[in-house]
Amino acid sequence: MIEIDGLKKLYHERTVLDVPSLRVQQGGTLALAGANGSGKTTLLRILAGNLQQTEGSFCTASPVLYLPQRTYAFRGTVLENTLLGAKDQKEEALRVLEELELIRLKDKKASSLSGGELQRLAFCRLLVRSCRLLLLDEPTSACDAAGTKLLLEALGRYRKKTGCTVILSTHAPTVALRAAQRLLILNDGRIEADGEPQTVLQSPGSPWTKQFVEGWKL
Ligand SMILES: Nc1ncnc2c1ncn2[C@@H]1O[C@H](COP(=O)(O)OP(=O)(O)OP(=O)(O)O)[C@@H](O)[C@H]1O
Ligand SMILES: [Mg+2]
Repeated sequence: MIEIDGLKKLYHERTVLDVPSLRVQQGGTLALAGANGSGKTTLLRILAGNLQQTEGSFCTASPVLYLPQRTYAFRGTVLENTLLGAKDQKEEALRVLEELELIRLKDKKASSLSGGELQRLAFCRLLVRSCRLLLLDEPTSACDAAGTKLLLEALGRYRKKTGCTVILSTHAPTVALRAAQRLLILNDGRIEADGEPQTVLQSPGSPWTKQFVEGWKL
């Protein structure tokens, strides 16, 4: 269970995140959507312990694993990158590289990968470890349709195996529909909509949400 109370982040007196109360049950997947600058990354970074909130508190299960919005390659091969922080997991690393269809690239320099390949590699680095809370910031933003499908299927299997809670941000309605049981839409740092993805998309509660969702369907 994740519990958030009175959480706020301000930059130079401007509030970029304001979440009075949020509860997320253990084991589900929550998608975060909202325009650029609406506070998705800010919320994920605070939950990851990567950014200090200005006010309020939160409590999460641990350990927490976090995939930043900007993924990067570390020095070394694809396999070495997968094993970072999990040196004794070679068998599992090979399995996840196979799962994400990166196995034929395992001995290549990670820095030589394409954007979508690199994003899948960053995800593999998480899959070899276990956690209770998985935070993914736009995990499929660089993936093509096939890559997105691979990644979401692997995510589903990982969640089943570990029982972890997943919070992922996305600009793709299909990702929210396919991966999440719950969708939050942020508007200028505040939760504007909260419900089952299908319901939020089909019956948006407020005029603002309706307009946002219409834009999403374009
Ligand atoms: N270090 C900072 N100093 C000042 N403002 C910041 C800082 N970091 C983030 N912000 C502002 O906070 C707001 C929320 O940013 P955030 O990165 O959380 O948005 P986002 O919803 O993840 O957007 P995107 O869809 O573009 O990734 C933005 O207006 C951003 O400019
Ligand atoms: Mg972001």
